[in-house]
Amino acid sequence: MGQANDSEAMWTAVDAYLAGHLIEKDEVLEAALAESEAAGLPAIQVTALQGKMLQIFARMVGARRILEVGTLGGYSTIWLARALAAGGRLITLEADAKHAGVARTNLARAGLEGIVELRHGAALETLPQIAAEGCGPFDLIFIDADKQNIPRYFEWALKLSRLGTLIVVDNVVRGGAVIDPASSDTNVQGVQRFLEMIAAEPRVSATAIQTVGIKGYDGFALALVTAESTAG
Ligand code: SAH
Ligand code: DHB
Ligand code: MG
Repeated sequence: MGQANDSEAMWTAVDAYLAGHLIEKDEVLEAALAESEAAGLPAIQVTALQGKMLQIFARMVGARRILEVGTLGGYSTIWLARALAAGGRLITLEADAKHAGVARTNLARAGLEGIVELRHGAALETLPQIAAEGCGPFDLIFIDADKQNIPRYFEWALKLSRLGTLIVVDNVVRGGAVIDPASSDTNVQGVQRFLEMIAAEPRVSATAIQTVGIKGYDGFALALVTAESTAG
């Protein structure tokens, strides 16, 4: 988090204003946040407005299969899973046993036990299993785990995609740190390498959008798969 200033106070106030208009009161989502906080999880989940944006994306692509890398307490998972049509499924990957346990509680409370499959383990170990089992292709893939591995998650996302798959990547701006070519932060370097990859990747049409709000200054990358993946 950056130093408090007038801009950040404004972003927070506007987020509250927008959420007041656009986010319905939801006891399941609020309970998920409370459970996560009580368990001491870091409060780094997407905001309510961002969660709803992800849900709208999933509806826009008519998602029946969603893959999420980085579950935390399952907050974004619940937003995304609720976008699924009947028979739809979501797989979410989480390395931290405590986070996975809290997420299972939250997903059960949300009535999503039969819809969401949480796989505990490092995503670079669970992604090959998912590919080997033929779980894909996915209609929407949300990459939101450790940032140094974003390039590798994006490679797996391409393998697990079809024409029209939407790949969403969180935290690509990180307070502006992304533009520092000398950054020694491996998370920043991961984002930078990922942006170089998508710039050179003919199979996707990609953009990135800066965001401000209660989580400060960050951004999302969006990559639409416009040509079939030949890999995998
Ligand atoms: N998507 C969540 C937030 C995820 S925070 C939401 O918006 O609600 C990032 C999560 O990625 C953390 O829970 C962290 O434990 C997990 N993570 C970190 N490294 C990972 C890895 N190698 N494989 C899988 N998950 C990982
Ligand atoms: C942070 C925020 C995130 O959305 C995330 O996925 C990981 C870390 C953070 O603010 O540190
Ligand atoms: Mg994130």
